[in-house]
Amino acid sequence: MTNAPDAPDAPYDAIAEWYDEYVRTEPLLAEVVIPAALRLIEEAGRLQDTVICDLACGQGVVARELALRGAHVTGIDISERLLALARSQPVAAPHAISWRHDDAQVGRTLADGSFDGVVCNMALMDIPDLAAALRTVARILRPGGWFVFAITHPCIQMPHSDWMTRPDGATIRGTGDYFAEGFWQPVGAPGVRGRVGAHHRTLSSYLNALADVGLSVERVVEPLATPALIERMPGYRWLPPALLSRCRKRDGA
Ligand SMILES: C[S@@+](CC[C@H](N)C(=O)[O-])C[C@H]1O[C@@H](n2cnc3c(N)ncnc32)[C@H](O)[C@@H]1O
Repeated sequence: MTNAPDAPDAPYDAIAEWYDEYVRTEPLLAEVVIPAALRLIEEAGRLQDTVICDLACGQGVVARELALRGAHVTGIDISERLLALARSQPVAAPHAISWRHDDAQVGRTLADGSFDGVVCNMALMDIPDLAAALRTVARILRPGGWFVFAITHPCIQMPHSDWMTRPDGATIRGTGDYFAEGFWQPVGAPGVRGRVGAHHRTLSSYLNALADVGLSVERVVEPLATPALIERMPGYRWLPPALLSRCRKRDGA
């Protein structure tokens, strides 16, 4: 584990092609997190002609799903290389997707109150200033608009946590330092976090940061792993592989 976040501003530029393949094939994302996020979005209301921002969109997997359902989608990301991959993928959607290079902590290309919904899939842990990113979300949403996000579960993935094998052979998660908020990188771990690290926050920090910007939690989902994910990561037989929520911007917020 390292503590110093002297990483470049866009660490995904260095792993863009790897991440593009990962997001297509990794059951954690393709079978569990993205379907759960789309369900939360679809339950928020009809998507046809709604205006949605995919904040930290990466190579655009969620943005394309929303566009195919008839939404007007803007995807922003800090990684030029992931945006290039997003732009290179044709999508036969009713409305073209607008891809923009922008920092979620600022959202300089995003107008106030201009979106019915904002989605941020598995990216809040990549953003150093959570409060600034959530201020962007609250600023660009219209009153009553929804915010759907997915994050690594902060009670499971935390500094110094790791998979362990019990004497009976079962894989379990060894807890770490839950209260050590900040950047950490499980060096050598497979997957995204071993490559780019993460900004850990406690669950209460997430919930209080949402409340601070006027976003009310409407639903919370801790999805079950699929058989393919359990085969790859057996410890997820007993644990939720992610945490998702849908929030609403309070009137007057
Ligand atoms: C794990 S990827 C998720 C990408 C995409 N949402 C998906 O579902 O595949 C995290 C993303 O956050 C982006 N990111 C990190 N910091 C950012 C920032 N300050 N502003 C915008 N995007 C950022 C990264 O470039 C990367 O695309």
